[in-house]
Amino acid sequence: MVTCAPAAARNASPILDVLKRELPNPCKLAEIGSGTGLHAARANTELPLVEWHPSELPGLVPRLVASLSEAAPEVAERAFALDVDEPADCDGEFDAAFSCNTAHIMSSDSVVRMFDRVDELTRDGAKFLLYGPFILEGRYTSEGNEQFDRHLRAKDPSMGLRKLEDLDQLAALKGFARSRLYGMPSNNLMAVWQR
Ligand SMILES: C[S@@+](CC[C@H](N)C(=O)[O-])C[C@H]1O[C@@H](n2cnc3c(N)ncnc32)[C@H](O)[C@@H]1O
Repeated sequence: MVTCAPAAARNASPILDVLKRELPNPCKLAEIGSGTGLHAARANTELPLVEWHPSELPGLVPRLVASLSEAAPEVAERAFALDVDEPADCDGEFDAAFSCNTAHIMSSDSVVRMFDRVDELTRDGAKFLLYGPFILEGRYTSEGNEQFDRHLRAKDPSMGLRKLEDLDQLAALKGFARSRLYGMPSNNLMAVWQR
């Protein structure tokens, strides 16, 4: 079994529901910052036509592989090292990219580079789906998110919730336009951009 925080486990089903609606079938997907591989493992049973390639920072790939090796050994084999701050060794082979709860953890500079990596990883027509707590039209979507943002920035001023409109601009620089925005549990959002 893939271990994860209880909140992450609660949000996994609604995330899969959006992925089911949005992803082409079949589809080759790269995930950025997979953590312990919760979504990769769930997708392996619930989205059988999605070839899921999880990734993590190089030093965390062994943990990701170990976590997935029992629940989804074939997905564990596809795990690859990806630090968004470094060029991806890839030539636009993916139909989709997905990342969950990463943009507020990465520095703001790394968020810019995450869009560089999405650009490198994906083909024309691809979708990028990004899940997390965002600032929408200049407002937090909840008091809890505002507190969470303050907490992150006190810990490290380069972390923090991102403005969705800023992410739209980064996406546009790579030829992506936002096609959908889903309200998700716990005042999170799932933004979908398509190229
Ligand atoms: C809050 S965790 C989310 C993990 C997983 N996506 C989930 O939802 O359970 C944030 C993840 O972002 C990854 N991360 C942080 N900086 C990164 C970077 N520069 N490149 C790639 N991943 C990064 C971390 O290693 C961590 O696994």
